Amino acid sequence: SPERAPRLTVIGTGYLGATHAVAMAYLGFEVLGVDIDQRKVDLLNEGTVPFFEPGLPEKLDEALASGRLRFTTDLDQAAEFGDVHFVCVGTPQQMGSEAADLRFVDSAFTELARRITRKVLLVGKSTVPIGTAERLTTLVQEISPLGAELEVAWNPEFLREGFAVQDTLHPDRLVFGVTSPWAEDRLRAAFEPILTEGTPLIVTDLATAELVKSAANSFLATKISYINAMSEVCEATGADVVQLAEALGLDERIGSKFLKPGLGFGGGCLPKDIRSFKHRAEELGIGEAVAFLGEVDAINVRRRLRTVALIRQVAGGDLMGVRVAALGAAFKPDSDDVRDAPALDVARMLYLEGAIVSVYDPEASVNAHRVYPDLEYAASLDQALVGAEVTVLLTEWQEFRTADPAQMGEQVRTRTVVDTRNALDADRFRAAGWDYWALGRPH
Ligand code: UGA
Repeated sequence: SPERAPRLTVIGTGYLGATHAVAMAYLGFEVLGVDIDQRKVDLLNEGTVPFFEPGLPEKLDEALASGRLRFTTDLDQAAEFGDVHFVCVGTPQQMGSEAADLRFVDSAFTELARRITRKVLLVGKSTVPIGTAERLTTLVQEISPLGAELEVAWNPEFLREGFAVQDTLHPDRLVFGVTSPWAEDRLRAAFEPILTEGTPLIVTDLATAELVKSAANSFLATKISYINAMSEVCEATGADVVQLAEALGLDERIGSKFLKPGLGFGGGCLPKDIRSFKHRAEELGIGEAVAFLGEVDAINVRRRLRTVALIRQVAGGDLMGVRVAALGAAFKPDSDDVRDAPALDVARMLYLEGAIVSVYDPEASVNAHRVYPDLEYAASLDQALVGAEVTVLLTEWQEFRTADPAQMGEQVRTRTVVDTRNALDADRFRAAGWDYWALGRPH
């Protein structure tokens, strides 16, 4: 009933769902998290987060101790329990296509809908092609049992890995895509503590809510590729992209965030989201409107190839047998996620050209090893550096940014470093006798 706070379920306990479930319980709601993976469910119930996310383990412990949060694989329980169901399953890129794979979203909605016998709200949080929420509305209404009243809403999520807890508890904005005042009211109740903080809220239709997410990630990807395109111009002209980015970013209309030139973007979101958005636009007959996203993607891929070419060049033109210390595997610092990770992709390409690659990442080595077992994985920074002829910074972890270049120099065979993230202090490295190279900067 509308008088009591809604009981929430969260279907899918990946980076997004686990964080959402923990945050909602932390805010005072009764929450049931659901996943098909028994191992994940067991770990979460024991207070172990199955992936690296700073701050989340502590919040999980608090939420479990409060008695307001538990996890299950049982959808019957979820259907019985929840007034508002949040669907947080993945929408990966399809094999052999740029389109998003909606299998998990479709099955979460239909499996839930089959089991519900009263009036509830089904809220999608996954990133989906525009039109999905409307399609799901028809689908769940067709299959729901007599007596059930299902409404679908869309509430896109904007959290960043590495800042997931902070972004969930204190988002820049909330977006509710709804088709009735009742659905809006239910969502307002589910986000009451966050709205009370004065968080801006946009209440809109389903298609706009879906589009906000695709448009936001496309904008962020475009901003990164823009500065990386300028990096290509710098490389051809002797200009310095780091100073360029600083000068551009001081214009408040442009802003310095997401204007960091380097190896480019990766991860489970930006690359596949721009492709899926472009694919959907083509299906809708408006491919031209977002054709530029193809360029954004191409610029991003070229950064990886340019990085390999630069490393080959500093190694003397041939990578065969060259020992390379690859610092970083995760797609960005403070994450153990290696999905479409530029760092790992570069390490793999170096290996395929015959280099002997030793990879070190503070958190992502296990995941990286699973994807590319052929590479060598070092247990520490020092170990990765031993005997290196070229050292390459690929993910800008704090550990690498604060490492002492003189001490690093003692491990390597040749003091040559390629800084693909413009994250190291070039002067300190040069002072310690390193030959310092970066993307988009004069040597
Ligand atoms: C991204 C968005 O930032 C989130 O708002 C969104 O919710 C999320 O995708 C999602 O769709 O779920 P995330 O993938 O966690 O978040 O990572 P970002 O911090 O956006 O970084 C993406 C990539 O861009 C990383 O590989 C990073 O190294 C790179 N990047 C970022 C740059 O190369 N330059 C920059 O200036 C910023």
